[in-house]
Amino acid sequence: MINKQKDSLFIKAALSQPTERPPVWMMRQAGRFMKEYWNIKNRYSFLEMCKTPEIAADVTMLPVDLLGIDAAILFSDILVTAEAMGGKLSFTQGVGPRFSNPVRNLRDVESLETAVTDKLQYVAEAIKVIQQRLDGKLPLIGFAGAPFTVMSYLVEGGSSKDFKLTKLMLHNEPQLAHQLLSKIAEVTTAYLNLQIEAGVNAVQIFDSWAMALAWDDYKEFSHQYISKIIAGLNRQDIPVISFCKGSSVFATLMAEAKPDVISVDWNADLLTVKKSLPAGIAVQGNLDPHILYADKKVIKERILRLYRNMKEENGFIFNLGHGIMPDLPFGNVKYAVDVIKNELE
Ligand code: CP3
Repeated sequence: MINKQKDSLFIKAALSQPTERPPVWMMRQAGRFMKEYWNIKNRYSFLEMCKTPEIAADVTMLPVDLLGIDAAILFSDILVTAEAMGGKLSFTQGVGPRFSNPVRNLRDVESLETAVTDKLQYVAEAIKVIQQRLDGKLPLIGFAGAPFTVMSYLVEGGSSKDFKLTKLMLHNEPQLAHQLLSKIAEVTTAYLNLQIEAGVNAVQIFDSWAMALAWDDYKEFSHQYISKIIAGLNRQDIPVISFCKGSSVFATLMAEAKPDVISVDWNADLLTVKKSLPAGIAVQGNLDPHILYADKKVIKERILRLYRNMKEENGFIFNLGHGIMPDLPFGNVKYAVDVIKNELE
């Protein structure tokens, strides 16, 4: 497979090749901070949006058309794999994701299916529609959740502040946890290969809640599975981005899984992280998304500060340390993209 976007700013930076400026995209760039998103969202449920290729494509294209970012990201969710495995998933406004049949014991784990790519064909269809719309102008990023983060939703039955039940399973029933993580990892590998086959130009693995884990637990229950997933991808020149909250602590370990890019949260000095990594691993990040609430002169100043810190390095992708918040002013997000594209000095 040849990456048709190999000459794009984004793929070049992801592969640590020189670029005239760093590319920019933002996690959760298609979402509730856009009134155009609400126009669609008011008519369909979130899962309907994900599962209807034309709608998923419409939403994917919003930040391409309205923000002018350098890469599109598939509109979907990390929990669609868990749903395909048998999780009864719903999304409720103000509550977030819920699984009404949480996975808590051996019987629950054994009942989860792993041959589920057929049920995820709607994602392949969406990717094909999006690639037609993009028409070769920009790369498309596919994604999946990392096993630990997906496990946490299945075990808790939804979002959690402290991951109490999930961590209790890791600590008291490590074998059961490994059985669950192995199943999720198997599905995730097949799912990312389905996306690559359907035509994405890069993939990102989201381990949003890794920062809840101690070093040894991260190694045993998260890192190990991410390594297996990356090793199992039929990816040739399709770059892999590894994201976690907590990457400022785990970056050197994350590098051992051999991603092309590590996406870094805002706690760390990005240049220090970059220099701690083996040559050839790019970094993505790491503006505090809260900067985008601030005055425009502050937004510009912080962007320039990050750029000046990183400008001698190949392999730098501008992004936030985590996703865009739903109440961020659209104009501020757009301003940040414009500064990165036109005013770096
Ligand atoms: O980045 C993008 O624009 C692509 C689309 C995308 C979504 N979710 C859309 C979405 C991506 C990459 C995700 C990943 C995702 N989903 C993660 C990892 C990234 C991260 O933010 O840490 C996680 C943990 C989830 C699980 C999830 N999905 C949660 C916790 C929620 C509720 C969030 C909330 O603030 O209510 C979702 C729902 C979700 N996923 C929305 C969107 C646009 C909001 C749905 C709505 O409109 O109500």
